[in-house]
Amino acid sequence: MSLAIALNDGKKIPWLGFGTGTALYSKDAENAVRQAIETGVVHLDGAQVYNNEESLGAGIVASGKPRSSLFLTTKLNLIPAGQTVRDTLVTSLKKLQTDYVDLFLIHFPINHEASLPEIWKQFEEIQKEGLAKSIGVSNFRVKDFEQILPTAKVIPAVNQIEYHPYVFKADQPVIEFMKKHNIIPTSYGGLTPIVRFSGGPVDPVLQSAAARLSKETGATVTEGQVLQLWLRAQGIPAITTTSKASRVKEYLAAETLPDLTPEEIKAIDDEGSKVHHRVFAKFFDS
Ligand SMILES: NC(=O)c1ccc[n+]([C@@H]2O[C@H](COP(=O)([O-])OP(=O)(O)OC[C@H]3O[C@@H](n4cnc5c(N)ncnc54)[C@H](OP(=O)(O)O)[C@@H]3O)[C@@H](O)[C@H]2O)c1
Repeated sequence: MSLAIALNDGKKIPWLGFGTGTALYSKDAENAVRQAIETGVVHLDGAQVYNNEESLGAGIVASGKPRSSLFLTTKLNLIPAGQTVRDTLVTSLKKLQTDYVDLFLIHFPINHEASLPEIWKQFEEIQKEGLAKSIGVSNFRVKDFEQILPTAKVIPAVNQIEYHPYVFKADQPVIEFMKKHNIIPTSYGGLTPIVRFSGGPVDPVLQSAAARLSKETGATVTEGQVLQLWLRAQGIPAITTTSKASRVKEYLAAETLPDLTPEEIKAIDDEGSKVHHRVFAKFFDS
């Protein structure tokens, strides 16, 4: 059984998610997805804008795993003129070769023709119909939640945001707001300190925690796994990706490694707060 986190609607989301954006954006994801599932991944994170839902669906089918054993997310892109949110999801479901997604997200709060409350109302209807088991948002700031919550009948289950030590401080207002409303964050870009901004202030803490855990477990624990343990300690699902089967194993192993100590977690928070590096969705800081 993989590690899973409870959602506010009674469902659960597997902690480790494999994404088909970033490295696989607009690329054929079939082999990467099949390989990830065969290695033990059960949570797949797609999006309409990634332009590869067909190959995500093909990878799921090629894995031979029953649909019910997997957790599949897709996200709404901008709604084409003359279409409804439901129309776009029906198109996605055809491409994904499935009858439902486990999670459907508003990918971005900006640039939509329709208002956010109107879009959210359509999400609620989609959930009622069973086309999406859970519904949520992505890249939502406090002010975006404040637009939809007054008229929402269903509270979003998750907000998928860029979350790693170098946005830890900047993301706290929305994280605190979400705690009050029982909405969990899921993290993308979680490996940013080692992949995109190595040489930063958290590096020494990651190195010492990785060395401690390697000694304690007798296995090689990597700095990437320490970042994932930092997310795990906060109950935040990690949405990541890789082209390498060996890395999928490394990511999955982070589900069962021992906990970081409170001192290590605090050191990552404190060192991460010394700089600010947001890679995606730059509007988030506005
Ligand atoms: N909602 C949104 O707006 C949004 C935005 C961005 C991403 N996402 C989702 O989140 C998923 C993951 O995003 P992400 O790519 O930003 O995740 P990430 O976990 O920060 O980075 C994953 C990348 O790190 C590389 N990597 C891992 N360990 C490494 C190491 N030790 N040294 C060097 N490179 C290493 C992997 O490349 P290798 O192939 O070399 O392993 C992979 O490409 C996306 O696919 C997408 O599904 C959502």
